[in-house]
Amino acid sequence: MVDDRVVIFDTTLRDGEQSAGIGLTTQEKLEIARQLEKLQVDVIEAGFAASSPGDFDAVKTISAEVRTPTIASLARCVPGDVDRAWEAIKDARHPRIHVFISSSDVQIMNQLRKNPEEVLDMAVSSVERAKRYCDDVEFSPMDATRTDMEYLYQLVEATIAAGATTINIPDTVGYAMPWEFAERISKIRQNVPGIDKVVLSVHCHNDLGLAVANSLAAVEAGARQVEGCINGLGERAGNASLEEVVMGLKTRKDILGVSTGVDTRQIYRTSRMVSDITGFPVQANKAIVGANAFRHASGIHQDGVLKERTTFEIMDPQSVGWPSNALVLGKLSGRAGLRSRLEELGYKLNPDELNVAFEAFKELADRKREVSDADLEALMSSQRRTVDVPSIYELERVQVSSGNHEIPTATVTLIAPDGTKTTDAATGTGPVDAVYEAINRIVKVPNKLTEFRIDSVTEGIDAIGDVTIRIQKDGNTYVGRGSDTDILVASANAYMNALNRLLAIEGVSEPATTT
Ligand code: KIV
Ligand code: ZN
Repeated sequence: MVDDRVVIFDTTLRDGEQSAGIGLTTQEKLEIARQLEKLQVDVIEAGFAASSPGDFDAVKTISAEVRTPTIASLARCVPGDVDRAWEAIKDARHPRIHVFISSSDVQIMNQLRKNPEEVLDMAVSSVERAKRYCDDVEFSPMDATRTDMEYLYQLVEATIAAGATTINIPDTVGYAMPWEFAERISKIRQNVPGIDKVVLSVHCHNDLGLAVANSLAAVEAGARQVEGCINGLGERAGNASLEEVVMGLKTRKDILGVSTGVDTRQIYRTSRMVSDITGFPVQANKAIVGANAFRHASGIHQDGVLKERTTFEIMDPQSVGWPSNALVLGKLSGRAGLRSRLEELGYKLNPDELNVAFEAFKELADRKREVSDADLEALMSSQRRTVDVPSIYELERVQVSSGNHEIPTATVTLIAPDGTKTTDAATGTGPVDAVYEAINRIVKVPNKLTEFRIDSVTEGIDAIGDVTIRIQKDGNTYVGRGSDTDILVASANAYMNALNRLLAIEGVSEPATTT
């Protein structure tokens, strides 16, 4: 008989951050970790401490600041990684070291270039080493779904004997079918001595679109920890979407008979925050958190829902934190109205933060007749960016001239950290190019623009434009976001956000010499 509580393990900050094109500052990771704490996940995998100084710093900071959940760091089965993981998490109230090693023949032979006995020894000695530091040790045989069953039993049995307290079975390449994966979990439960003394976990990737289905099938077969990422972020096609797993377990408790400790009312807010900070949009038809997830277009469905919500809704949108009404604010709205609307959207501001938000709101309301929830979210994101990404350079002014008989020309003024103001101008193939060229003439950090996207936050001619860009330098990608009712200002803000992030992550706090 296994426990009916499923441990929810969030790896947005580790496997999610491995998605191509995400590079977060420690401050941003901390902000996401704090929100995950509000969501009440049980474990936060805060990073892979040995992989880079930035990851180490983020894991260490989160360990010190986020006290309720268990904080895990990933480590390869090498002594240096295990030591570094411990160094990063040792201040956590509930630390966990998560060690992993490839277990399938294809990976052992071609990637590790070792034999299965050597891998088993490395796994056992690393679990033992981790155990000397910390009671809570997780072991993952990577590519477990393509691993020989007998070898998998041996590896799992040996690492349990070495002290592992959680055994995680990853479908690393998203290869398994739900019924096959469930059978593998059942067989592990039947054939590995000691398995009933540890938590059996699963970690599914989405290459065939089956990560959530596989996770739920594994729970039915007795797994009691599920790993995943908010919005299904992660390597390649992503990891199991944590909000879908949690709502699957909750909505179908009738057949699965298990529960989680997650406060599902925090799901919407967590999803929006992760999307905003990572610059990865949530597709409109995404389950649970997509813009259309609870929208009914057909007349028959609308009629049904108006008569009785459950006719066409299997979940209450408010149970996952969708704002309850679409109250619209305007320029006559006061501070109290703004505060209460922001609270409804999940933003609890102190008086100083409210003052700053109110100023920005008034400025927006002067330009826009109606300020919707989406506008408020865009406004709060802009404010968050100024806190999370240090303003090494600040944009003071941008002016652009363009037209069908003009050469697009931009003039910008930037303020450097020492307060020096520099103005420069440039032409470009278009107005955005001209703005970016003018900024480049001042900042002088060579980089390549790899993505430029502009979305409208709401409908209407006065809508806020939300710009997301990605720039690359030395193989690393940095995201930048900016929003404004003027799309050229939004584009300039997005570029400044990406450049400041690049400078902060690369550890460049001094400006390049300006001429
Ligand atoms: O997908 C995978 O196998 C992993 C492991 C490190 C757990 O992310
Ligand atoms: Zn993974």
